[in-house]
Amino acid sequence: MLYNFDEVIDRRDTGSLKWHYSDDTIPLWVADMDFKAAPPILNAIEQAVQHGILGYTKPTAALYDAIIDWHGSRYELALKQANILFSPGVVPSLALMMNVFTEVGDAVLVNDPIYAPFMSKVEQNGRTLITSLLQESEGKYHLNLADIEAKIIEHDIKLYLLCNPHNPGGRVWTADELKAVLSICKKHDVAIVSDEIHQDLTLRGHTFTPFLTLATGYEHNVVSLTSMTKTFNIAGIKGSMIFAKDDALIQKISQQQQLNDEYELNLFAYTAMRHAYEQGNEWLAQALTYIEANIDLTIQFFAEHLPKVKVMRPEASYLIWLDCSAYSQDDQVLYDSLRAAKVELNAGIKYGAEGHLKMRLNVACPKALLIEGLNRMQTALNSDGI
Ligand SMILES: Cc1ncc(COP(=O)(O)O)c(C=O)c1O
Repeated sequence: MLYNFDEVIDRRDTGSLKWHYSDDTIPLWVADMDFKAAPPILNAIEQAVQHGILGYTKPTAALYDAIIDWHGSRYELALKQANILFSPGVVPSLALMMNVFTEVGDAVLVNDPIYAPFMSKVEQNGRTLITSLLQESEGKYHLNLADIEAKIIEHDIKLYLLCNPHNPGGRVWTADELKAVLSICKKHDVAIVSDEIHQDLTLRGHTFTPFLTLATGYEHNVVSLTSMTKTFNIAGIKGSMIFAKDDALIQKISQQQQLNDEYELNLFAYTAMRHAYEQGNEWLAQALTYIEANIDLTIQFFAEHLPKVKVMRPEASYLIWLDCSAYSQDDQVLYDSLRAAKVELNAGIKYGAEGHLKMRLNVACPKALLIEGLNRMQTALNSDGI
């Protein structure tokens, strides 16, 4: 079956976070897609509603099998039911990890730039935020391993929150890069939590490596967090997974979850998760092809019409990191000028100091919307007011 990703669906007045406008602004910001979810997922949810009884649930054997098969067949990540916990979201799990691996006042390391909740959850939970800047060369970010080790030693880091694939830079860290991180963390007894929510959106030519596939012998200090919500554009359903391969660690995480009774998902999340992993493959393949074409189109557009924007081609996902420093020297002016032209992007500065004068562009929308959004960016960046 061919899915229609060109269909423009009006999302205003649906309670959408992304489409919060009363005018015709085009949202190219928060990371959800303007594509209808895969029919097998929607059908399964409809069937659950039709059944008519929406009582308490628990994860079924079929759900565990679907998760285990997906991760085993795509990524050679060998999981057992005992390695899997459920959580309302990856961000809630990031926050939970503070209590699993650290005490109030401990130092936690993240990269900069980084998806903003990595920073806010550390600080809101009373931990000390330490950042290691990514280094840009040849059009992509690299981990600064020497700096990571120096920061670990200097600040007595207890936990490193890694984002793989990386948001906002789009890097899919290679197995060698991850092994280097593992070796440093092992040497200094630092726990690693790997947020892998963008794993399934890895683009052609790149290979995603789950951190847990490398962690043999260090499993007591490694957790990965992932979800079907980003992959299948069902973020409003909420729901995610926590993977750990050490029994004592899983038990500790589970105990932490029980403090706030935070280990259950709702009926629709369980249903969507199972059917996404069982039957979502074809939709995902087509969505990725469409996204890849939108990325190519966008890169070409900037080369032709806004050549001074430096574009970072993502290796995963649909978020493109743009260096707009040739057009403005002020983050707020940059953001406001785009908003005035009725297109919204994420201000790069929200992702840390390295995001100064950068913007994050979401291209997971019908081509017609994207082209109109890009035209509005051209108008804004070429205007005198900026
Ligand atoms: C790296 C990363 N982690 C987590 C999330 C959100 O996860 P959740 O909605 O499950 O809390 C996002 C959403 O954009 C993300 O990019």
